[in-house]
Amino acid sequence: MIEHALARGYEVVGVCREASVPKLDRFADRITIVAGATDDREVVRRAVAGCDGVLTVLVPWGMQHYASGTAQAVLDFAEPDARLVFSCGWHITRDGKDVYSRKLRALVKVGGFLARLARVVDIDDQVEACDRIFASDRRWTVVRGSDLEEGDSEGLPVWAEHVGDPILASNLTRRIDFALFMVAALTDDALVQQAPAIVGCRSASALRHAVPTARAS
Ligand SMILES: NC(=O)c1ccc[n+]([C@@H]2O[C@H](COP(=O)([O-])OP(=O)(O)OC[C@H]3O[C@@H](n4cnc5c(N)ncnc54)[C@H](OP(=O)(O)O)[C@@H]3O)[C@@H](O)[C@H]2O)c1
Repeated sequence: MIEHALARGYEVVGVCREASVPKLDRFADRITIVAGATDDREVVRRAVAGCDGVLTVLVPWGMQHYASGTAQAVLDFAEPDARLVFSCGWHITRDGKDVYSRKLRALVKVGGFLARLARVVDIDDQVEACDRIFASDRRWTVVRGSDLEEGDSEGLPVWAEHVGDPILASNLTRRIDFALFMVAALTDDALVQQAPAIVGCRSASALRHAVPTARAS
């Protein structure tokens, strides 16, 4: 996300935990880094002050309401007209109209239960975070990612309003393109108060169901 934002000429302020600061070394002279947990309200308040947009990675790590704490701090402290773009996975549903495969349902149910049992990850808290965002009248977008893979960019992912749409069937997006979609959403007003479910634009299902465009001469 930092790379895509810098490529667009944006001034970037990044928040990450103290232990993770070294991973941003290659950007150190080009961005402002605020060290701290993203559910630390004072950290978020300082970081988002004066920002036109806020990109938030919602992660359900731990059992201390990390994702909902992060989301709430951003909702509370971002500038009134700021574009707020949040990341999560397909398992989040806004209106209950998503249609999930048996595999995904089992993965969320069993994986979520085991992770909660081990007190490592609390998926319910990511659900809570998104419910708070959906209920807000802010200029938000919740980007719902498919499974991710590493690799070079293929271009801006395509999206659908609901999981189950045939265009999403491939269930795979390059991680770098998930980030690209997040950054592009900052300036796409059509995505305000939307929860797009995304998939790679070169994936088989995206190619199969792409809306035909005028043939270039
Ligand atoms: N992985 C997938 O296949 C997948 C699929 C669909 C959607 N998504 C969504 O994509 C986003 C990124 O997912 P990801 O899998 O890349 O996440 P991730 O590996 O967990 O990393 C995201 C951030 O979580 C923080 N983090 C890691 N361990 C932590 C801990 N123990 N306590 C607190 N924070 C911790 C780190 O922040 P610091 O910078 O502070 O270290 C890290 O930058 C999420 O919103 C996820 O829901 C992921």
